[in-house]
Amino acid sequence: MNTKSTILFIILLISVTATAQPHLVPFPQSIEMRDGHFSLTAKTGIVNRSAPNNARLLKKYIEEDIHINLHEQPGENHILLIREKSLDKLLGEEGYRMSISPDSIVIEGAADAGVFYGIQTLRQLAAQNRLNIPCLQITDKPEYSWRDFMLDEARHFKGATVVKQLLEEMAYLKMNTFHWHLTDDQGWRIEIKKYPKLTQIGAYRDSSQIGGWNSPDYDTNIHGGYYTQDEIREIVAFAAERHINIVPEIEMPGHTSAAIASYPNLGSLKTPPYVPSFFNPFWGVFNVADPQVMDFIHDVLDEVFSLFPSRYIHIGGDEVHSESWESNSDITRLMNAKNLKNYNEVQMLFTNQIATFIHDKGRIMIGWNDIMGKNIHEWADSTNESSHKLVPYAAVQFWKGDPALIAEALKQGHQVINSSHRYTYLDYSYEKLPLQKAYEFSPFPKDVDPKYKPLLLGSGCQMWSEWIPQVEELHRQVFPRIAAYAELGWTTEEQKNFARFSTALSQLLAPHWEKNNIKWYQEALPE
Ligand code: ACM
Repeated sequence: MNTKSTILFIILLISVTATAQPHLVPFPQSIEMRDGHFSLTAKTGIVNRSAPNNARLLKKYIEEDIHINLHEQPGENHILLIREKSLDKLLGEEGYRMSISPDSIVIEGAADAGVFYGIQTLRQLAAQNRLNIPCLQITDKPEYSWRDFMLDEARHFKGATVVKQLLEEMAYLKMNTFHWHLTDDQGWRIEIKKYPKLTQIGAYRDSSQIGGWNSPDYDTNIHGGYYTQDEIREIVAFAAERHINIVPEIEMPGHTSAAIASYPNLGSLKTPPYVPSFFNPFWGVFNVADPQVMDFIHDVLDEVFSLFPSRYIHIGGDEVHSESWESNSDITRLMNAKNLKNYNEVQMLFTNQIATFIHDKGRIMIGWNDIMGKNIHEWADSTNESSHKLVPYAAVQFWKGDPALIAEALKQGHQVINSSHRYTYLDYSYEKLPLQKAYEFSPFPKDVDPKYKPLLLGSGCQMWSEWIPQVEELHRQVFPRIAAYAELGWTTEEQKNFARFSTALSQLLAPHWEKNNIKWYQEALPE
């Protein structure tokens, strides 16, 4: 190459680099590159016309991410945050528009959530090149309104610091729902003032099974912990600032051994109860025919309502081992009185009562899809289907069953969240659920009539924690797959692209996680 062509080549290279698309996860709906750059420096100001919280968090994030201290006043150049209600037709509640020119970055949303998501996009752009943020125009909004990460702290308690770190990482990926699995057989993790033994007894077990479902081995240390109501309120507020709604899950009528160990009269069996240290689903099933048990549940839920502003309250409802009901005379009497033919009908009656109680308080009950009364378990008796229907105002989170069952739920008018375990269970190994398989999951099943799309809220990814006592193990299971779920919840099916996503993961997210001390699983990335 002679000198002239070398110079031409360099100019060409610079212009190609300058207009190359930045790495962004989730990928926005529309991005248009423009000429020029905006330089983010200590002389950049923030002009805020949205919630004060947005400017405060923008300042905090930029300081933490790239060590630049922005000021909330006009500077040499500026970042303008605007909430403008009239944009809601274009952007909805969570969308944003971002225009970057050489002297300003304008982030607009119809609501504060949209502005907040624009700020997350800006953080990702700044992390790539703060002095040369390319001029561009982004118009962006999510495909699904429900983008959820679930953490099971009943099996292994992790505590507020770990939860807040996960909430921050969810916000970075524009996820908006934290599903908090707070009670199960092996632990009760939320203080309930009226029933102190739930945490005095139910939050502790004397040992923990290790090595897998059928393993005879146990870690003989006491395991336990729980959140006080003050701690819960603080975490709910922390999440709300990041536009994350916390949906608490209080399991019933099964997966309730820890509650029954605390208050034995709640249970269906006479066997002396204890908090189990092995992880298979257990005998803990509430005696739902006893009015005192229903009073207990109402009291617990009343305290839950006061702690969590969420419209949605999860009651679990999965894997009820009705053997515990077989020898209970209250249950037999209830079945005779109400003409219930099987235990799925007992559960249906109970679930509909709870759904109505929750509905009357202005909230919406969610349960795992076992609450539809279908036989979705290999161990279920085929004559055990319920001929009674779930009340339509209950929402259903699918973890098992085929798309036909989802279609049926949608036809019956239920709101649905698709968390098919094959694609979204974060406790699964990377061999069983590789990153690409996670990425390719589509929450709306192919053969279902598109007219039901508004009822399919979105999807969740679930970190069940039976086998993850340590935070490092938790991180390895969650990261990087959580980024795939964030993108499939936000980005349209047509815009998804695994090669682009993988590059963004290694170029943008990996350094971000490393900086934040997240032990992500590097082998998950394609070669
Ligand atoms: C579940 O995994 N039992 C919902």
